[in-house]
Amino acid sequence: MPAHVAVIMDGNGRWAKKNGVPRLSGHKAGMEALKKIVRRSGELGIDYLTVYAFSTENWKRSDEEVGGIFKILVYYMEREIREIHRENVKVNILGDYTIIPEAARKAVEDAVELTKNNTGLNFNIALNYGGRDEILRAVRSIAEEARAGDLDPESLTEESVSERLYTGGMPDPDLIIRTSGELRLSNFLIWQSAYSEFYFTDILWPDFDESAYEEALRDFSHRKRNFGGR
Ligand code: IPE
Ligand code: IPE
Ligand code: MG
Repeated sequence: MPAHVAVIMDGNGRWAKKNGVPRLSGHKAGMEALKKIVRRSGELGIDYLTVYAFSTENWKRSDEEVGGIFKILVYYMEREIREIHRENVKVNILGDYTIIPEAARKAVEDAVELTKNNTGLNFNIALNYGGRDEILRAVRSIAEEARAGDLDPESLTEESVSERLYTGGMPDPDLIIRTSGELRLSNFLIWQSAYSEFYFTDILWPDFDESAYEEALRDFSHRKRNFGGR
């Protein structure tokens, strides 16, 4: 079983098109799929589940779609947070969520605060997250410490970068799942995925259910990981 599973939840728009409903209905259906995967991850004893909910590039979409995505997030958080808390899940946000719409910022801050002492599944939601942005922030913080004279560039290690990422202190993802048939990372966990296993499926995210998830985990369990060794 992987300790850390990361998921690129892609295909909501195509699911909506296929079903003849508005794009936002696809995002709503995606939230229902997410609920199932969070619950199953907790039941399976996975330590970390990280999901890509909104990228630093997703601002390019129409105001209507962006606004709708955050409204759906608020609705989901407000409706589900008690249940998530009862399941002992600890919510954490990856990305600069200070610039997302106010209601969404408040909803995620409340969720993080409510669940901060939980000891079950660590549920990371990547919101306004971009891997390059994350690395840039780490580099900037290192440069500032060096300028202040508090850090010797010679003493820098890979750990110095890792600990300054949003995932600081967490294990790297063992398995990265992407739904809907696209074969790319789209700026997700680009530093952390150096030795991750990838699993791609054509299933559209709203159709990704417990059995599809278990199939991905089964596939992972047969992988042979070398990490460069033998
Ligand atoms: C993923 O689904 C959700 C977000 C990026 C917020 P998409 O909206 O990208 O769905 P497709 O790729 O258009 O089908
Ligand atoms: C990646 O999906 C981002 C999320 C799932 C939140 P996109 O649909 O934005 O990725 P591209 O644009 O197809 O690469
Ligand atoms: Mg997409």
